[in-house]
Amino acid sequence: MRKIYIFDTTLRDGEQSPGVNLNTQEKVEIALQLEKLGVDRIEAGFPAASPGDLAAVNAVARAVKNASIIGLSRSREQDIDAAREALKGAQDPCLHLFLATSPIHRKHKLRMEKEQVLETAERAIRYAKQYFDKIEFSPEDAGRTELDFLCEVTAMAIRAGATVVNIPDTVGYMTPSEFGNIFKTLKSNVEGIEKIQLSAHCHDDLGMATANALAAILNGADQIEGTINGIGERAGNTAIEEVAMTLATRAEFFQATTSLQLKEIAKTSRLVSKLTGMVVPGNKAIVGANAFAHESGIHQDGMLKEKTTYEIISPETIGLKESKLVLGKHSGRHAFREKLIDLGYELEEEAVNAAFAKFKDLADKKKDVSDEDIRALLEEKLIDTPEVFTLKSLQVNYSNQSVPGATVSIGTGEGVVVEKTAEGNGSVDAIYNAIDAVTGESVELEDYSIKSVSQGKDALGEVHVVLKQDEVSAQGRGLSTDILEASARAYIDALNRLIDKRKSPGRRDKMSLI
Ligand code: KIV
Ligand code: ZN
Repeated sequence: MRKIYIFDTTLRDGEQSPGVNLNTQEKVEIALQLEKLGVDRIEAGFPAASPGDLAAVNAVARAVKNASIIGLSRSREQDIDAAREALKGAQDPCLHLFLATSPIHRKHKLRMEKEQVLETAERAIRYAKQYFDKIEFSPEDAGRTELDFLCEVTAMAIRAGATVVNIPDTVGYMTPSEFGNIFKTLKSNVEGIEKIQLSAHCHDDLGMATANALAAILNGADQIEGTINGIGERAGNTAIEEVAMTLATRAEFFQATTSLQLKEIAKTSRLVSKLTGMVVPGNKAIVGANAFAHESGIHQDGMLKEKTTYEIISPETIGLKESKLVLGKHSGRHAFREKLIDLGYELEEEAVNAAFAKFKDLADKKKDVSDEDIRALLEEKLIDTPEVFTLKSLQVNYSNQSVPGATVSIGTGEGVVVEKTAEGNGSVDAIYNAIDAVTGESVELEDYSIKSVSQGKDALGEVHVVLKQDEVSAQGRGLSTDILEASARAYIDALNRLIDKRKSPGRRDKMSLI
C-alpha cells in the first residue's frame, strides 16, 4: 500500500472561514488533537500576517512533537523571515511558499509576466533554502494555470530546492478528470519529479474537493491537504476525514493508506466544531450527526438482519461508541468515572470532581444524561479565558402581549455584583441589552446560533455567538438546559474573550493573502 501523507490546514486555510477566529490556546488545543489523530503535517498559520499569528504558530511549533509544523509565506523575504522566527523550536519545521501562476492572477493580481513569476518564486525558494531543509512550493491557482507553464514552474521549484510541490485548485474549479490529468502530466513531463513529493490542495466551490483529491491520489499525488470537517475559505477545503475514510473503506481500489488513527476522527471533528463555532451539518459525510442514522423502515429492517446491508462504515471505526451505561440522578461517582473512561477522557482527579459536580447539577434538571451531554459538559470550557464578567442570576419577563424585559446580576470582579434591567424586541435582545448596561461595552452581535446537544424536550441547549468591537471579533459559547441562560452565558463568554484580545494586541483579525 502506498502511504498518502496528510497535511492538515485547519489552523490556516480552515481559520480563513468567515467568522472563525482562533486564539493561541485554541490553536494549540486543536494542534495537539491533530497530533493524536496522526496527521503528518500541520500548517499552523501565516506568521507574517501579524505578531499575534507569529506567536500562535510558535506556540504550536513548541507544543507538537510528532508532526511537521508548517508556516505559510508569500514569496517575499520578510514573510520567510517571519516564518523562520515562528518555527523556532519546531522538531520538524517546513516552510510553505506560494505565488500565483494562473493567467488571471498574473494579469490582475500580480501584474507580472510569466518570466517575472518564475524569477520571483525561484528567488524566494533559494533564499528560504538557506534556512529550511523542507520547503513546499504552491503555484496558487494551479488548476487554472496553463499546463505547460505549470510544468515549467514545477521544474524550476525542484531545481531551486523545493521538497514538495503542491497543486492548489484555489477556486474549486476543477473536475476530477481534469485535476487528475494535471498530476499525470507533471509525473511524466517534469524533470526531477521523482525527487519531490506532489501534493493536492482542493477547494469545494463546486462540491468536488474530495473527489478531486482522490483523483490526484489515483494519478500519483503523495500528499493531500485539507481540513477537519472541510472548513475553509468560502465553501471550504477537502475534508481530511472523508479522504482517510475513503482510502480505508475502498483500500482494494485505491491501494493507498494514511497513518491516521481513525478512532480519533469523531473527537477531532467535535473539537474543531466547538472551537471554531462552525456547526457540522447533520448530513455531512463521516462526521454529521445523521451519518450513521437509518430512518426508513426498509433500511432499519435490513440493518437489523445484517448491518452491512446499509452500513459501509461502522460508527466505532471513527470513535463513536454508544455505551450501554445510561447515567441519571442516582448515578454515583464510580459510574461517572467509568463513563469518562468509556468515552475516552483521561482526567486528573480534580477535573473529574469538577465534571462530576456539573453532571449532578445537570442530572437534577434532566432525567437521562446522554453521552453527548457528558461530552458537552466536559468540552464546554476547554480554554480558560480570564473571567472579567460572570453571570450570577438571570430573570426574564416575557409575554407576547408586552415588551420583553430581563434583569441580570453580573459579577464584575473583586466581589462586586451589578444588577441591571432592560427591555428588548425579544427575550434574548432584552438579556443582551441588560448585560450591555452592566458592562458598559459597546459591541455588535455578528452571529448567533443555537443547537440542542441531544434529543428530547429537556435537552441541553448550546448557544454560539460572535461579537465584534472595533474590527476585533470574538466568539463565545454557553451551555444550559435553558436556552435563555445559554444565550446569556455565550454572550458573557464572548465579552470576556474580546476583553482578553484587547489586552494582547498584535493578533490580526483576518488574514489577507495577496
Ligand atoms: O487555496 C490556495 O491556493 C491556498 C494556497 C495558499 C496554497 O490556500
Ligand atoms: Zn486554499
